[in-house]
Amino acid sequence: MTGLPALPETECLGDSMPAALAGMPDPTRAEFTGRFEHDLTQVFARRHAVAVSSGTTALHTTLSAIGVGPDDEVLLPALTVIMTAQPIVQLGAKPVFVDSDPDTLDLNYADAASKVTARTKAIVPVHLWGRMGNPANLRAFATERGLTIVEDAAQAAGTSRAGVPAGAVGAAGCFSTKDGKILWSNEGGFVLTDKADLAAHIRAFRGHWLTPPPGSRPQEHLGLPGRMPELIALLAQANLQRFPALLERRRAQTAYLLRALADARGLTPLQPATDETWNHYSPLLHVDLPHPRAFAEYLAQLGVPSSTGSFRLVPCDTRPMFTGGDRAPCRGAAEILDRTLAIVLTERDDEATLDRYAAAITREAAAWHA
Ligand SMILES: Cc1ncc(COP(=O)(O)O)c(C=O)c1O
Repeated sequence: MTGLPALPETECLGDSMPAALAGMPDPTRAEFTGRFEHDLTQVFARRHAVAVSSGTTALHTTLSAIGVGPDDEVLLPALTVIMTAQPIVQLGAKPVFVDSDPDTLDLNYADAASKVTARTKAIVPVHLWGRMGNPANLRAFATERGLTIVEDAAQAAGTSRAGVPAGAVGAAGCFSTKDGKILWSNEGGFVLTDKADLAAHIRAFRGHWLTPPPGSRPQEHLGLPGRMPELIALLAQANLQRFPALLERRRAQTAYLLRALADARGLTPLQPATDETWNHYSPLLHVDLPHPRAFAEYLAQLGVPSSTGSFRLVPCDTRPMFTGGDRAPCRGAAEILDRTLAIVLTERDDEATLDRYAAAITREAAAWHA
């Protein structure tokens, strides 16, 4: 079986640490954050990049920048993590969950259309597992209804569809660099946008509105403690230099594991769309076995981590704080999560680890009757 490309060099990660420490503590310093932002604009070919403390903060600052506030409604897929919904609630707006299509993982636009009201302000597509929906359909839907698109591209750095990179479909793309992401820095996030006014608002909002955008005064609004720490920015910038190699490694790891599982009983790899360049964030398998969630949870106990087995990912509309309304549950999202085994990888997973995962999954799938 073809092996993996070598683990990208890790020595460079600590290279700038002594210089950074020598300049500390200096509360006015944002040198590494600035460098990271500059490099992001080059690597992702966007006009503006703003580094923040997390992917959740990226969404929070961006939704604030497009004017989401009390009484607004924001559409988002139920097929997501709680962190997509949280900033909407914190801004006083209402998250309105939209179902997904089990055949494509894309939004169910008929369901989305039925949930648009006069209060709907924005739509937040989520490229879960790095998989990206059709950008033309999304733009057409949003334009027709006057909605702003803010992408939750937390897991999707490196994916594109029909030539449109994740994060470049609408007004802004929000990314996380939390460990586990292909571009990681322990914690952190960033926003990519071509709109100067949004970038300026996000910069002000991430730091208590101390550096206001043009036309505003310091502290005219409240903001967040949402800056990216300098040491994290240093790590993020070093990993950004490694990003092509990190992406290549993740693609190879996912392909390796899927090849090793080609004959596993009841498991079929999910294929990306023909016009999709997928970052291969997570090996994705459709599970055609009884009680597929219990299967994922059992595998997690055996040391094979997955979204549902390890992190108990469920549709966001079924989280306790969002239930109780009169909305029907998003059944497509539930079906996708119940029936998808999404293996969690990091760059350090080598052939031996992936072989161990493949052996455990193949053995347990063959024996699974529960
Ligand atoms: C799809 C998605 N959205 C948002 C987030 C939030 O990012 P963070 O954990 O950096 O706040 C994550 C993080 O895992 C995510 O996977």
